[in-house]
Amino acid sequence: MRLFIAIELPEEIKVELIRLRTGIPRARWVPVEQIHLTLAFLGETDEETARKLAAGLARIKADPFRLLPRGIGCFPNLQRPRVVWTGLKPEPNLLRLAAAVHESVLAAGIALDERPFSPHLTVARLTPPCSVELSAFLDKHAGLALKPFDVREFTLFQSLLTRQGAMHIPLRSFPLADPQLGF
Ligand code: 2AM
Repeated sequence: MRLFIAIELPEEIKVELIRLRTGIPRARWVPVEQIHLTLAFLGETDEETARKLAAGLARIKADPFRLLPRGIGCFPNLQRPRVVWTGLKPEPNLLRLAAAVHESVLAAGIALDERPFSPHLTVARLTPPCSVELSAFLDKHAGLALKPFDVREFTLFQSLLTRQGAMHIPLRSFPLADPQLGF
């Protein structure tokens, strides 16, 4: 199974992201229901490892937090843009959760990408080089700020590659601690 771990977005954020989907010729816009905040991409994983991983993820103790999507940019850079993303206001609890998830992944014996965690929402994929329209799009949305939303869980997904593109199937969600309940 091809697996990844991500935070799902509420409908109102997806609706706001739909409004962005214009102005870059040849951009491959990510279907809005598939936009998520990736915590870790695991790639091909066997079932036993996946079970071990899920047990580890269930033991994570992390606090809920609020995220504020803001700003826009390109990976890896403006000279060779391959991905257009929306950024997120830095949130220490998100970084703590991602670190705990990465530890669980490594503890399950899965190798991780060595690049540091860089929180983002991928909204489009591109083929370089940068176009005049892309520059204009980035300028236009530089001050982008969506509504804040609360994160109370994260999800282990299977990514199924089909002829129609990748399908993301939620396998199991893991709740974050509820401070009101004290656990
Ligand atoms: P991103 O869009 O947030 O960058 C599921 O495939 C998700 O895993 C993708 O949406 C992508 O997140 C992330 N991912 C990270 N590295 C990947 C890789 N090498 N191949 C495919 N997906 C990857």
